[in-house]
Amino acid sequence: MRHLLDTQHLSRADALEILDVAEDMADTQRREIKKLPTLRGKTVVNLFFEDSTRTRISFEAAAKRLSADVINFSAKGSSVSKGESLQDTAQTLQAMGADAVVIRHGASGAPRTLATSGWISAGVVNAGDGTHEHPTQALLDAFTIRKRLFGDDSRGRDLSGIRVTIVGDVLHSRVARSNVWLLHTLGARVTLVAPPTLVPQDVSGWPVEVDYDLDHAIAAGPEALMMLRIQLERMSAAYFPTEREYSRRYGLDARRLDALPTDSIVLHPGPMNRGLEISAEAADSPRSTVLEQVTNGVSVRMAVLYLLLAGERPDTEK
Ligand code: CP
Repeated sequence: MRHLLDTQHLSRADALEILDVAEDMADTQRREIKKLPTLRGKTVVNLFFEDSTRTRISFEAAAKRLSADVINFSAKGSSVSKGESLQDTAQTLQAMGADAVVIRHGASGAPRTLATSGWISAGVVNAGDGTHEHPTQALLDAFTIRKRLFGDDSRGRDLSGIRVTIVGDVLHSRVARSNVWLLHTLGARVTLVAPPTLVPQDVSGWPVEVDYDLDHAIAAGPEALMMLRIQLERMSAAYFPTEREYSRRYGLDARRLDALPTDSIVLHPGPMNRGLEISAEAADSPRSTVLEQVTNGVSVRMAVLYLLLAGERPDTEK
């Protein structure tokens, strides 16, 4: 693996390899001493042009657990405000010895530009670009679903026949796009639920079913329900009547949680708008995997950095 730019072009074999290496990494994270020596001497640069809590810290933790050096760059407070270009910013960081660049950017396609322009030689990982993709989020979501469903028998297994329903602001969600492609590649059946205004116009080309009625979708009994944040910061027009009305029609509350099969799980990539797309009861219920997703994210990102920078299966016995 040279770069990780999306899940749309990730093969089933590569996806399973990442998930299985993440299983090995997760085993190491249950030990008293979590650090592995495997990326000693490598430098990972976190290049964040948009805000982040989970993804940036998770990549930092993952790199440090593998003994890599980490440089954190935030566009806020940097020379980007003076007009410095992506090329010059990236080349400056490369000149400080970056082996991998983890980039979050508001422009869809910025990570691909960085990876293919020839500006830098470092491996590039997409940590979320515009409304395009967020591949490591989808990988950690798939890891979480697989782990909850199959437990210790997860290794090597795909999600054939598993029904995953993704609810909310699909239009603006890079998480939804990455999940749609990855879950499809792994054999899952994906249903999208959203108001018509929040369904992308090109959805007919996606491997999904679309439902506009959350209660109907819940009655179908999906094994996993993924709630999405309403991305008010990306909305320039009225996409739904009121937040209260959105919550009534598309929010996951205690009643809808009870209507799900008892062994169904609830995912949310975070950050959550409690009381809008998900109630406190649903977010904090034993079926919610929100914090497991965060924990699993470190293992998945360790796997991605390892496969990018070391290129072979880690010896996790050390
Ligand atoms: N899930 C996710 O991308 O969260 P952050 O924006 O906090 O990184």
